[in-house]
Amino acid sequence: MVVLKLGQAPQPKQLPNLRSKPSFASLYAALECLALQPDSWTGTPKSQDPEGLDPKFVNQYLLSIVSSELTWFQDGSEDVMVLDRRDKIWELASKRMAERCGRTAMPEMTRTWLIPAPITGSSLAFTIREPPLTGDNLGFKTWGTAFTMAQKLDDLRTKHLSHLFNEQTPSIRALELGSGTGLVGIAAAALWSIPVLLTDLPEIQVNLSYNVLQNTQLVEAQGGRIISTVLDWNDPSAFPIHDFEIIMAADPMYDDAHPELVAHMIETFLKRNEDARALIAVPLRDQKTKQMTATFQEVMTGKGFSLLAQGQEICRDDWKENDVEETGAGCWWAIWSWAR
Ligand SMILES: C[S@@+](CC[C@H](N)C(=O)[O-])C[C@H]1O[C@@H](n2cnc3c(N)ncnc32)[C@H](O)[C@@H]1O
Repeated sequence: MVVLKLGQAPQPKQLPNLRSKPSFASLYAALECLALQPDSWTGTPKSQDPEGLDPKFVNQYLLSIVSSELTWFQDGSEDVMVLDRRDKIWELASKRMAERCGRTAMPEMTRTWLIPAPITGSSLAFTIREPPLTGDNLGFKTWGTAFTMAQKLDDLRTKHLSHLFNEQTPSIRALELGSGTGLVGIAAAALWSIPVLLTDLPEIQVNLSYNVLQNTQLVEAQGGRIISTVLDWNDPSAFPIHDFEIIMAADPMYDDAHPELVAHMIETFLKRNEDARALIAVPLRDQKTKQMTATFQEVMTGKGFSLLAQGQEICRDDWKENDVEETGAGCWWAIWSWAR
């Protein structure tokens, strides 16, 4: 019998045949070896089944495990250990199946995002956990716009925010709205060496603060600081801090009420001077998001903001089944200030 080691790519013949009643250890090792790494859209190919293993064969193999009673583990006893082992195998096989079913079915995963940081001469690697997508908790996923904007942060600072990063500006504080998993706010704190307050709804906080904690050391080594807290756009009255020099939000609008709410947050929390800036990035997914973007621009102008700079970037996301999608239209970003 071949027992696979962790990290060793199995060959078809090495996958334990269920008819031969494989041991818990060999089945478990095989399932560990079939893990697919989540993609972080860095241009490297998505992790695939080991060479020689047909994905259809792997799916059938996994299906045969979850639908097997694994009776030989039982060996006549209803021992707790035995039952626990069967559960472990079923659970791991289900996880491997979910990994092969596209983003919505993915179990919890942790991705590493490499963001260019010219100041360090290389890239910074941010570790971001994403819980399974449940209900309408869109903040449990790192969205394409967030990755695109995180990659653009250095460029934006040089071209559009440099006036804030000189010695005459003693301290800059940034607020992120609808942080989700936190990639943009965390990367901004590190790349711009500033304190960033990341915010989102209460139900997003546990994961967001976990990601903040995971990346604190990296951010602080770059001279930044990160904290997360709740800020619900529908109820901002109790939020204690105002007058942020920078406000940012990536992909914050997916409901008709959002353009007005997001603009209201900027109006409420952006420092009222000519230097303060709001950076908003919106994916142009479909007619609805394009309409919300247009509404947002109208509302911002009506509230007394000027559009200083804007652009479009190619965006990637992982909505295509089992793969990463380039969303053609990309995302629109804009930098706003108070009108003079
Ligand atoms: C599409 S996700 C984008 C998350 C993250 N910025 C990214 O790009 O990966 C939109 C985010 O807005 C947050 N959000 C929606 N309504 C909100 C509200 N009323 N107050 C605060 N955050 C809200 C969601 O919880 C979610 O995290």
